[in-house]
Amino acid sequence: MKFFIETYGCQMNVSDSELISGILQNAGWEAVSAIDDADLILFNTCSVRQHAEERVLGRISNEKHRKQQNPQLKIAVLGCMAQRVGKRLLEKEFGVDYVVGVDQYLQLPELLNKDGGSEIEFDHFQIYPGLKPVHSDNTCAFVTIMRGCDNFCSYCIVPHVRGRERSVALDEIIDEVAKCGDNGLKDVTLLGQNVNSYRWNDYDFPKLLRELNKIDSIYRLRFVTSHPKDLSDDLVAAMADCDKVCEHIHLPLQSGSDMVLRAMNRKYTFGHYLDLTKKLRQAMPDISLTTDLIAGFPGETRLDFEMTLEAMREIQFDYAFCFKYSEREGTAACSFENKVPEAERLARLQEMIELQRKITLEKFSAQIGSEVEIYVESLSKKSSRQISGKTRDYKIAVMDGDESDIGTLKKARVKSATAGTLICK
Ligand code: SAH
Ligand code: SF4
Ligand code: F3S
Repeated sequence: MKFFIETYGCQMNVSDSELISGILQNAGWEAVSAIDDADLILFNTCSVRQHAEERVLGRISNEKHRKQQNPQLKIAVLGCMAQRVGKRLLEKEFGVDYVVGVDQYLQLPELLNKDGGSEIEFDHFQIYPGLKPVHSDNTCAFVTIMRGCDNFCSYCIVPHVRGRERSVALDEIIDEVAKCGDNGLKDVTLLGQNVNSYRWNDYDFPKLLRELNKIDSIYRLRFVTSHPKDLSDDLVAAMADCDKVCEHIHLPLQSGSDMVLRAMNRKYTFGHYLDLTKKLRQAMPDISLTTDLIAGFPGETRLDFEMTLEAMREIQFDYAFCFKYSEREGTAACSFENKVPEAERLARLQEMIELQRKITLEKFSAQIGSEVEIYVESLSKKSSRQISGKTRDYKIAVMDGDESDIGTLKKARVKSATAGTLICK
């Protein structure tokens, strides 16, 4: 039997899909890369914004016609939307046969022996111990170090669909990272909803980084996501000390207004955030900063919004992922009053994106003339005589080269830049 898996949402879902692939292949299933060849189509879904759910429902609806040609074909919904919506997804109109929540992937092979059904109970201890993911990339790897989130930011569905925080055992992480390096996956990104909360016996996140930095077979270490409220001085020191830890941090700000940050339950002020960026830049002058921002949170006035724009100008993020606030049923903010009208949310989002595009272009252009180290990930999409990869500070870079360069480190000089790519020689 053959399966095809389609993944939505964040890197955690990409990593979970690799885990699911491992579980199914161990149970005798074969992975296929063309949907036409599949007896089972799995959708690993995201619930973070309404739009993410609508997209998946649209995709399932597009694929269910396949069941007429192949009555054997089954469709499964996994991940955060499976967890949120649950059994309702089994109603006939959706054309879904199986619904499996984020802690129940071990039950998948057994469930697939049945004609249909669901497994969606939370298991607050599930960390999938001893399981080997089948990494889907040839050069870079994600390694999950913790699951769940306890922060309950008032807009966010993640703690409701991912359950409570729990960490993966230190030895398992060390083994997995070393194995990645041995198999040519030299750029490893550690994953967690809030990696700063990592804890295993005496090991916190900075100690974990120091341990992993000793693994010879990898070139680079990265991590996402850090919550500003518990980014410690220890972590800044560990980042600066560890040569494999790259000069980049993704630190979601969400808003530049303290009033909005409080309503979001983020537990820091803009002043605190600004201090963190200064500490990081003092310890690592070339560090790049990326962030997430939300436009049009309930109660956000024009003045609050302008504080976010001002924060963007002041901090000069290398890149910002900008989102329009989306109501998620069951979250605290969903019942807040003073909702910003949809059209205003959109207008603010566009303003934010436009400002960031300019800043990003300036940041990328500022690197013209400098020397960078590129880890080559693939041939460039535009030309087979060019290669594409990332700099240590997480910028996409292209230069002349060929297939034999993939997986190697190159020293290069930046010749020109767009708001997304460094063109190097
Ligand atoms: N655990 C990570 C990422 C969570 S989801 C963190 O805490 O940073 C990724 C981003 O989606 C968030 O940082 C936030 O900017 C955005 N997001 C989450 N819920 C949202 C919502 N209801 N509406 C709009 N954006 C949202
Ligand atoms: Fe969501 Fe906040 Fe947890 Fe991130 S830290 S996953 S934004 S609740
Ligand atoms: Fe990730 Fe979306 Fe779930 S952002 S944790 S896949 S809700």
